[in-house]
Amino acid sequence: MEFHVSLDGPGDLVARIYRSLRDGVRDGRLRPGDRLPPSRELARTLDVSRGTVATAYERLTAEGFLEGRVGAGTFVAAGAGTGAAGPAGPAGTAAPPASPDGGLRPRTDWVAARWSPGPRTAARYDFTVGVPDTRLFPYDTWRRLIAAEWRHGREPAGYADPAGHPGLRDAIARYVGYARSVRAGADDVVVTGGAQQALDLVARVLLAPGDVVAVEEPGYPPARAAFAAYGARVVGVPVDGDGLVVSRLPADARLVYVTPSHQFPLGVAMSLPRRLELLAWAGAHDAGIVEDDYDSEYRFADRPLEPLHGLDTGGRVVYVGTFSKTLLPGLRLGFVVVPPGLRRAVRTARSLADGHGPVATEAALARFMDEGLLARHIRRTGKAYGERRSALLAGLDGALAPYLEPVPSAAGLHVCALLRSGDGATAEAVAGRARAGGVLVEPLGRYRAEAGGRGGLVLGYGAVDVADVPAGLDRIAAAFREVTPG
Ligand SMILES: Cc1ncc(COP(=O)(O)O)c(C=O)c1O
Repeated sequence: MEFHVSLDGPGDLVARIYRSLRDGVRDGRLRPGDRLPPSRELARTLDVSRGTVATAYERLTAEGFLEGRVGAGTFVAAGAGTGAAGPAGPAGTAAPPASPDGGLRPRTDWVAARWSPGPRTAARYDFTVGVPDTRLFPYDTWRRLIAAEWRHGREPAGYADPAGHPGLRDAIARYVGYARSVRAGADDVVVTGGAQQALDLVARVLLAPGDVVAVEEPGYPPARAAFAAYGARVVGVPVDGDGLVVSRLPADARLVYVTPSHQFPLGVAMSLPRRLELLAWAGAHDAGIVEDDYDSEYRFADRPLEPLHGLDTGGRVVYVGTFSKTLLPGLRLGFVVVPPGLRRAVRTARSLADGHGPVATEAALARFMDEGLLARHIRRTGKAYGERRSALLAGLDGALAPYLEPVPSAAGLHVCALLRSGDGATAEAVAGRARAGGVLVEPLGRYRAEAGGRGGLVLGYGAVDVADVPAGLDRIAAAFREVTPG
């Protein structure tokens, strides 16, 4: 690839070539040691005389930006470039990036408010919510499956179906049918880049600006943000011990987003009567329901309740799942099971968003599922998470009992616990103190769109070693003592 020499700007051709290369060295686009094209070649590319380029090169060489190596060509000089107080002058003289002010601006205000967890910071005791233990992933098996997909003659080289690899869609349909009694065929499944893209595609096809979307409060901020990004008016609806309070839904809601298996972040399961009430409400109000079943593969108590999708007779439920918890978030693989009337639209939305997913990865996951390896991996990781969860509940019942009251939950990778006294600010302060002591724990307020409500902590057990749980919780108890003395 060749460096783009711009002939824009004032001065003769020598000056323009000189300036373009000099700026490239100064701002780091050209780095010390980079080879420049021979003057004859660059002259041909720019349609100028060879002498013009040679003069520019000579000037840059004389000033220390370039150096000629006999028999090898012309290179960016070793001491040139940003950061070095060489010929480019002291650090900081680099050309500024184009239009730092002015330039394009987003039309919407959701960007600033957007939830952006990003990469995690490391901590000695990591109770981060919503992450699996990446060390448990079967890397060797995965490498074998991926390598098989990239074998010559099988290589997934071309464009593919926006709805996803057919074998994977089939495997997902069988998996949700078997494990979750979500009755679906491969045609009902669209593979997505994680649950997040599923939410984005659903918002794209179901919402117009100004539509009302009801979400749980507290709830999952990236879902709120995805709906808001399409101009929806997002309204928080309270959650009680039975899940989302249906009687509090705004009558004009076009879409209701819920996490019935394991409410995010409180952890309660939506009761069966509440599920039936929500479905009846959606039918009466001509609304859709997004059922985000993000971590129900891990179940530690109680019988699983029928998903809304399985209870739905009106084709109103869109069922969203992800492999971020069972496998790895970095795989970016999830799926959505859509009613027949939405199949084409969601498939088209995926093709508009990013064409389609990574073919080799999807094919490898299909094989992983077909060979029974996903089920085995869930069993194995579930055992590890179960032990961590037990240790966590024991600590909540022990060292943390004076401060926290766990919210009953039976599934997933986190537990929420409410403060016995104090408010959201207290929880923030405790989390801050804990962080200073090497413990990552999230205050419940992070997941509230509105101020107020009871304070609490949300404790993930996906990333923490079981042996570290008691000591981590002791430190949280110490943080409570510091923040709420007496
Ligand atoms: C409620 C909820 N939905 C979905 C997801 C998964 O998101 P994704 O599949 O985009 O990684 C998470 C992860 O934390 C979550 O908490």
